[in-house]
Amino acid sequence: MNTNSLVSISDIGRDEILKLLETARQFEENPNRRLLEGKVVATLFFEPSTRTRLSFETAVNRLGGRVIGFSDANTTSSSKGETLKDTIKMVSNYVDLIIMRHYLEGAARYASEVTDVPIINAGDGANQHPSQTMLDLYSIYKTQGTLENLTITLVGDLKYGRTVHSLIMAMRYFNPEFRFVACKELGMPIEYKIFCEENGIKYTEHTDFSPEVINSSDIIYMTRVQRERFADIMEYEKVKDLYNLNNSMLGGAKENMKILHPLPRVNEIAQDVDDNPHAYYFEQARNGLYARQALICRALGIEV
Ligand code: CP
Repeated sequence: MNTNSLVSISDIGRDEILKLLETARQFEENPNRRLLEGKVVATLFFEPSTRTRLSFETAVNRLGGRVIGFSDANTTSSSKGETLKDTIKMVSNYVDLIIMRHYLEGAARYASEVTDVPIINAGDGANQHPSQTMLDLYSIYKTQGTLENLTITLVGDLKYGRTVHSLIMAMRYFNPEFRFVACKELGMPIEYKIFCEENGIKYTEHTDFSPEVINSSDIIYMTRVQRERFADIMEYEKVKDLYNLNNSMLGGAKENMKILHPLPRVNEIAQDVDDNPHAYYFEQARNGLYARQALICRALGIEV
């Protein structure tokens, strides 16, 4: 495995996270720098995406590199039965970096083991989404002025939500207090609760998205119930609309509180929240460009 790969957020420690946030800040000041001249980057998306793929590709373009790849695996030789191993080995012949999203948990780890080209995991099933976590951390840092000692409320699909899994792991360095708000079917998996206990992370679990929870949060991180992860559509129908945030629920929120969401949203944040000063999800998605520029440079060993 190339040591510059980013498969799990646990591949990078506290110091490196802070360095990447500083690099993201520099890219926000000036996103157009020709640091990737002569480099070719592949974006291989075996699952749909809007933000992750387009922000990674914009990041490469703004840094002067070139992009090849696909956003629909049905148009590739995977549809003829080519294995993931063979696809990765082939693409490795052409590029300097592979950015991959795949529906199978562990696919990014596997890919990183069959090539010497660095891999950035752009989401693997319900497992991890480390580049999302870097932009989430950057968004939290920008809005709160710190990552330390924050009360963070995670709401919705905590079972399949890879973004919340990665965020918990990254926040272990910063003494957070988490609230997990979910129905019992979509509660935080036991392995992440054990992770919290082993790392001294405080958490409480709630089925009620109550005013007390909302009014004492620094960050409310909403998530979509992911229909594509359910084997039984009736199970999805039962839980899809249990947690919805609207403007009338925000009157008592702390002044610094910001609402994050990895997006796309379906019904979990009402449109009337979009113009509320607590809403930050569209800015959060913009921060993805700068965080991903920092990650691409890290993967290619380019000093910024
Ligand atoms: N947040 C996120 O991963 O969005 P996309 O699925 O649109 O890439």
